[in-house]
Amino acid sequence: MPTMTFRIRRQDPHSKRDPEPRWDEFTVPYESSLTVLEGLFYIQEKLDGSLSFRYCCRASVCGSCAMYINGAYRLACQTNVKHLGGDVVTVAPMPRLPLVKDLVCDMDDFFAKYEYIKPWLIRNSPDPEQEIRQSPKERKKLDMPIDCILCGCCYSSCPSVWGEENYLGPAALLKVHRFEVDSRDEGWKERLPRWKNERGVYRCHTIMNCVEACPKELNPTEGIQWLKLEAVHAVRRRLFGRS
Ligand code: SF4
Ligand code: F3S
Repeated sequence: MPTMTFRIRRQDPHSKRDPEPRWDEFTVPYESSLTVLEGLFYIQEKLDGSLSFRYCCRASVCGSCAMYINGAYRLACQTNVKHLGGDVVTVAPMPRLPLVKDLVCDMDDFFAKYEYIKPWLIRNSPDPEQEIRQSPKERKKLDMPIDCILCGCCYSSCPSVWGEENYLGPAALLKVHRFEVDSRDEGWKERLPRWKNERGVYRCHTIMNCVEACPKELNPTEGIQWLKLEAVHAVRRRLFGRS
């Protein structure tokens, strides 16, 4: 039976026995439908039960299995080894995030920043009697940002995050954009002070690593640029009473 080599970065930073990262190699039976996640299952079940990684839906919608595979951000469940080329698969955790163990990153800061921007529909008007309808044109504005699965690839790839730990990062800001373009949302004033500052959109230097990293092919930069423009409109409204 043909085989593949999985080369995996291992480390338990909290163990005295494992202070430095190392690369372990495993031989995995190859099938043309094999995904990286299935290869990791095989290793964990048959070769080394101590291998740690995160996963959930196995269908590219939960974002849990984001990893750095053959030098690129990818979802392990979405990545067929056949499409990687070669017979060695290199798997590492998402770079520059704190490590829990092996391929598992600590996402606490990422989700704290996400929660900070109030990622839910805010309404101030009295509850309507019926559902609030959107026109196809209004709904179309949500098409891109609503597909974010909060995998963290963009956040891990962003040099502004590396340089400023308080920066909200592309995923949280894309979520702000997602609610600000939603015709049903009324949270503009509530959210504005949370993203219109040096911790928010002004920390983005349009480096666009986030766009390249996103395994869902979204464009966080576009969302952030939209917010910057809205911030200018907000100042003009305040100064001149018009946008
Ligand atoms: Fe992941 Fe893309 Fe959402 Fe960033 S924008 S969290 S890379 S799905
Ligand atoms: Fe970072 Fe993306 Fe801005 S990589 S600097 S959030 S364009």
